[in-house]
Amino acid sequence: MAERKPVHITAEELAEQRRYAAMVSAMAERPASYHVVTYGCQMNAHDSEKLAGMLRDMGMTEAPDRTEADFVIFNTCCVRDNAERRALGNVTWLKEIRKKNPKLIIAVCGCMIQQPGMAEKILKQYKFVDLAFGTSNLYKLPELLYQTLNSDRAVVVVEDEDTIAEDLPIKRLRNDAAYITIMYGCDNFCSYCIVPYVRGRERSREMEAILQEARELKASGVKEIMLLGQNVNSYGKGLEGDVSFARLLRELDAIGIERIRFMTSHPKDLSDELIRAMGECKHVLPQFHLPVQHGNDGVLRRMNHRYTREQYLDKVRKLRQAVPGIGLTTDIIVGFPGETEEQFQDTLSIVQEVGYDSAFTFIYSPRTGTVAADMPDQIPEDVATDRIKRLIAAQEEGQRKAMSRFIGMEEEVLVEGLSRRSSKQVSGHGKHGVGITLPGTEDDIGKIIRVRVTAMKNNTLMAERIE
Ligand code: SAH
Ligand code: SF4
Ligand code: F3S
Repeated sequence: MAERKPVHITAEELAEQRRYAAMVSAMAERPASYHVVTYGCQMNAHDSEKLAGMLRDMGMTEAPDRTEADFVIFNTCCVRDNAERRALGNVTWLKEIRKKNPKLIIAVCGCMIQQPGMAEKILKQYKFVDLAFGTSNLYKLPELLYQTLNSDRAVVVVEDEDTIAEDLPIKRLRNDAAYITIMYGCDNFCSYCIVPYVRGRERSREMEAILQEARELKASGVKEIMLLGQNVNSYGKGLEGDVSFARLLRELDAIGIERIRFMTSHPKDLSDELIRAMGECKHVLPQFHLPVQHGNDGVLRRMNHRYTREQYLDKVRKLRQAVPGIGLTTDIIVGFPGETEEQFQDTLSIVQEVGYDSAFTFIYSPRTGTVAADMPDQIPEDVATDRIKRLIAAQEEGQRKAMSRFIGMEEEVLVEGLSRRSSKQVSGHGKHGVGITLPGTEDDIGKIIRVRVTAMKNNTLMAERIE
């Protein structure tokens, strides 16, 4: 692949977008309300916060539901086939809503649109879509909406560029916890994964821009930040000076935000320096999402993962040594092309060996353009379904064992809301990343509360308050 350089969106370009925003805002016939429908990962959730920020600055209010909005944006994912199908199903459904609200404008953006040829295909098949734009053009929403409102034809912009746009308006989902993107894109090219093709080459934000954002969040009362990137461990690649993810963590730690988390980490880039920083930073939470994907070396090699089972387990041991009781979570794929029953057994055994607090388990889904999609011996659906069932059972057993370490332990919960089961209980996440329910009221939301864990119920912990 040809060498590509990150494209920094300049202050002038952003000023131009603000001028478009002002023009849209002044239009009598512009949409009065919007609703953003988000699929996929945290990266997309955060992109949706930026879309909402730009729409707010164009004078629009957020509609609680897509059926009540004049402008609906679908921010799509394409990491697996079902993510794509779900998004398109919902886009079609809106066609009916438009009959009731002829003013309705429909936009589709995100990873699905960024696939080569996809925007054109969607506009041909879904003639009622008014606007489509890719992940690298997100910052252009004001200009694109302006064009859409001034045109009878659909507007499509998908550029294959590795953009970095600083200082976009953000309308955050929560006041107490916030996302901060630290790097965009991915260079790993795991053989099954489409993300490098739709999110572009890996590029890092300048450390000072990240620190400044964190300082502002702290000043606004945010208690927890979540650092985002497809491979945060390799943060800093291509930047000048002595930058690394470990260094960034230490600088953020010094700012004094109460809780710092991050995702996702690639095992091959998890350095001893980072493990040390994990152990020493006061505010970095004792939790680590470390996707293993598979337990067999042959499959890991064909996945293009550049680590072995032993190397992975070694990092797990080091993490547990540096941060006793650390909460470990993972992602696992079953039914990768050519996966034999014996190889699958290695995945079952690594899950048992590690003992994860939780795991996201996926059936392999072939993605056009990736290396694995053209591999021989694709696994039949019934075999993959049988394997994922057995994997989930093994994980649940491991999870029960792993989580029993919390019983009797003290924890700190950032309360997110009322419990779904009772109005006299609230729930949130502990420092180790596990969901915890405790007695409480609405007043507790957004606060960090000290508790003692008393019991385990399904996938969550029950706790009592410590005065
Ligand atoms: N950069 C992150 C997130 C990638 S997408 C990471 O590397 O962990 C999240 C998860 O989706 C991946 O970890 C992987 O387990 C899963 N995934 C990606 N492509 C997939 C595919 N084609 N089929 C099934 N699962 C896939
Ligand atoms: Fe995809 Fe691998 Fe990059 Fe994760 S690290 S986004 S799985 S290519
Ligand atoms: Fe999906 Fe794009 Fe995230 S493909 S998983 S929304 S990076």
